[in-house]
Parts: sequence; C-alpha cells; structure tokens
Amino acid sequence: MKKTTVHLHTRLQISPVDPRIFGGFLEHLGRAVYEGVYDPGSARADENGYRKDVLEALDRLDMTIMRYPGGNFVSGYHWEDGIGPREFRPRVRELAWQSIETNHFGTDEYIHLCRKMGWEPMMAVNLGTGTPEEARNWVEYCNIPSGSRYADLRVTNGHPAPHDVKLWCLGNEMDGPWQLGHVPAQDYAIRAQQAAKMMKDTDRSIRCVVCGSSGIQMDTYLEWDRQVLEYIGGLADYISLHRYVGNPNDDTPDFLAVTASIDHQIEQTDAVCRYVQARRKSKKRTYLCFDEWNIWYKDRAGDGMGKVAPHLIEEVYNLEDALVAAGFLQSFIRHADVVKIANLAQIVNVIAPLQTRGDDLLIQSTFYPFEMMCKRREGISLRLGVDGPSYEGKTNGTVCTVDACAIIHEDTLHLFLTNRHMDEAAEVSIAPADTGIVSVESAELLTGPDAKAANSFEDKNVVKPVTFEELTLKAGNAHMRLPALSFAAMTFKLG
Ligand code: AHR
Repeated sequence: MKKTTVHLHTRLQISPVDPRIFGGFLEHLGRAVYEGVYDPGSARADENGYRKDVLEALDRLDMTIMRYPGGNFVSGYHWEDGIGPREFRPRVRELAWQSIETNHFGTDEYIHLCRKMGWEPMMAVNLGTGTPEEARNWVEYCNIPSGSRYADLRVTNGHPAPHDVKLWCLGNEMDGPWQLGHVPAQDYAIRAQQAAKMMKDTDRSIRCVVCGSSGIQMDTYLEWDRQVLEYIGGLADYISLHRYVGNPNDDTPDFLAVTASIDHQIEQTDAVCRYVQARRKSKKRTYLCFDEWNIWYKDRAGDGMGKVAPHLIEEVYNLEDALVAAGFLQSFIRHADVVKIANLAQIVNVIAPLQTRGDDLLIQSTFYPFEMMCKRREGISLRLGVDGPSYEGKTNGTVCTVDACAIIHEDTLHLFLTNRHMDEAAEVSIAPADTGIVSVESAELLTGPDAKAANSFEDKNVVKPVTFEELTLKAGNAHMRLPALSFAAMTFKLG
C-alpha cells in the first residue's frame, strides 16, 4: 500500500474538545439497569445494590455524562412511580420493550449513582404519554432546594440537597412511529416548547435538548429538525442526533467507511441549525447532542415478553465493530466545534461494551477504543491533512484508508489512527509543519486475528489493546506501521 502522511500545524485548530462527548446512556431496557448496574442479589453487589465489577469497569471509561432513563422507555415513564419507599413503588407494564418495570431503581438511585461515578446527570422527560407539567414537576423535584410541593417531596424522601440536574432532553425520538405518543413535527414542537418554557421557568439554569431526527433513514430527516427548531426557537440549547450502524451485508470495507456518513450527518444537521439561526436573525447557536450512537444490527428483537429484566438486544461485538466505535469518536473530535455532547448507547448488557452473566463480567471489543481515547481527550481538536491511499465503500462513498484525528494540549499531541485495510499494513508518517515530535509518551494498538474476532466469557482476551511498538521518531516526524484492521491511540511531546 502507498504511504500515508498526516500533515498538521499546531495553529490550525478546530475547537476545544468538549469532554461531554465521552458520555454514556443508561435506559430501563432489558438488563441494563437490573442485572447491569443494579443487582442487589449478586455476590458482586455493594451495600447499595450496585455491581462493583460493572462500576469498576465503567470507571475505566471515565464517562463524563450519563443520559437516563430512556430511550423509548421514557415515552411511557412516569417519574413519580420511581421515587419514595421501594415497597410502595408500582410494578408497571412497560410498553416500549414489552417488559415489567419494578421501579426499584428511580431518580434518587440514579443521581446517587451519578455522584458515585462522577457522571453529570442528563435526564430525558416523557413527552410521549407525559405532559409538559409532569416534566416541569420533575425539574422542581430535582433542582429546587425546598419550600414547594415537589422540592419538599425530595427532602421527605431523604435528599435535602437538590440533585441539580442541568441538562434535560425534551422527549426521545419523537419523529419515530415506534415511539409512544409519536406525533408530527409541528405537534412535537408545540409540546416541546410548552415543556421547555415551564421547565426553564422552574429553573432558569437548565439547558434543553430538543429531539432531532432519530436517524438519516427517516423520511422526515432534516425537515423535522428544521420545523422543530424554527418553532421552539431560543429554547433549544441543543438538538439531538441518533445513529446506529451495522454490517448486515458482511461488507467490512463499506462498514468501516461509515465514518464518512457520520461526518455528513453531523454537517447536515449543523447546516439546519445554522440555517434556522440565520432565518431567525438570532445570536443563539443550537449545538449538536449526539445522544445515542453505536453499532446495532445483530440482535434487533425488542419484545421482553412481559418479564422483569429480559435479555434484550445483547449484541456481541467484534474487531470491526470496535474500529467503527473508534470512528464515531474520531468523527465527534473532528467536529468539536459543533458536537458538544455524545452518549454511547448503552453502557452494560444492552448494546453495550460490558456484559454480565451471573456474577461474571465480560469486556467487549468496543470498550477499548473508548478507553484508549477517553484518557487522551483533553485539548483542542486539530485540522489534519491526510495524504494517502483511499477506497470507495459501496454505500458510504470514498474514504482515506487511514482515518485520523488529533488533539493538542500545550506541548502534548494526541493522535488517533485507524487502518481500514483488510489485509495490508499502513506505513504512516506524522509531519507537524511548525514544530517537531520529540518523544513518545504512550502508544497503544487495538487489533485482532480477523474482522470478526470477538471476546467471549470463555476467551476474554481475543481483542484487547497492546503497547504499540512499531513507532519511530526521526527529524521531528513520527513513522509507524499500522497493521491491517487496527486502531492506534498515541500521545507525543512536541517541541
Ligand atoms: O438504545 C436503544 C433504543 O434505540 C432507544 O431506546 C431508542 O431511543 C433508540 O431507538
């Protein structure tokens, strides 16, 4: 394969990387909450019923923000069912995933978990079957110190200090016919405007995320976003984007090229935000909140058959999935000027990097790119010039064989590279124009025996990072040999 050169200049900066792009998502779905983060019956549970092994693994991902409680679940959820003494909380027939919800885990437990893990809470209100007033009451319960009905209810429930939830999603995927209470854009816009106004009247410091399109496949893609943004105006601090990708035709090169399509989705949605801002002659910019992203196509069955914590959408991830997960994060970093929040959907058992089986825990391949990148996230995203071979994916268009992004922080440079080639190593040089690379601080490589290689409970270490050795420095440039189907995360000192 022809060589690749990554050109950079430390002054060609895009924007600081918002740490909130390293967020997660916890939904009452399948075994995400029960048997996932919360499992009082497990030998691995702590005194609060949280799974210690799960939380220790999640700690390694150092997630900044955690979206809760859904997802599709939220569109039928009444938050008051999940507070107060457990013995009085109702068992509810849950329609989005056809399950039984015990409500043993609710708002106060979630906030407690967020505090324990250092996650910023991010809550979604029910704009499917719920009312704007119910949403506003939840803000009062969470954020007002005391002296009024819902604030005092929180105090009575044993939480004198406000939960102080700053970020609120105005429903979930309301453009989708599968959503409980789905309505056309104009009707959603009215609901969302009413809710946002009352929620912000209750606490002026909160920020709201309006539902954008739930995927690029929607007939109303971008038109939904335009209508909603035009109606809701300045109340929209962020607009949500969702994306689940897959390889149903077993075309790995095309699957790995999906990053180009993620780049386009971000740029198209941002274009709508800029268009509406200009039409409204407004100074206020609505930023992007990519609050659901992942690989999801192998296990789509969503019927919980009336069970508590059924096994639902427990996708098994392999090497190619891990490379695509890296691609999502690389795309967010390349668009650091517009993507301010992003949430890996989800964190445990349900389309997740972690799986529990009894008291055992499995780390899946997609865990590693997140871990490798989260510890190198501080700094400013750089504009790169990638000069090297390219190829054309069947549906996703032409991409460079080597995918790249970089973050600079003072004299530290973090660089992330994916070699998408199926069977050839990529010779790559990193060439800073205005400075030199003086040392390698750390370098890790994720690869595996083949695209379909996956970890399992029986063999947990098939796909995991190793120290990246094939890296040399010469005259201020770095030179490396990236194996076929691999992802590298590196930190250099500049000077
Ligand atoms: O993350 C799984 C589901 O995907 C969420 O509940 C929904 O918002 C999306 O369709």
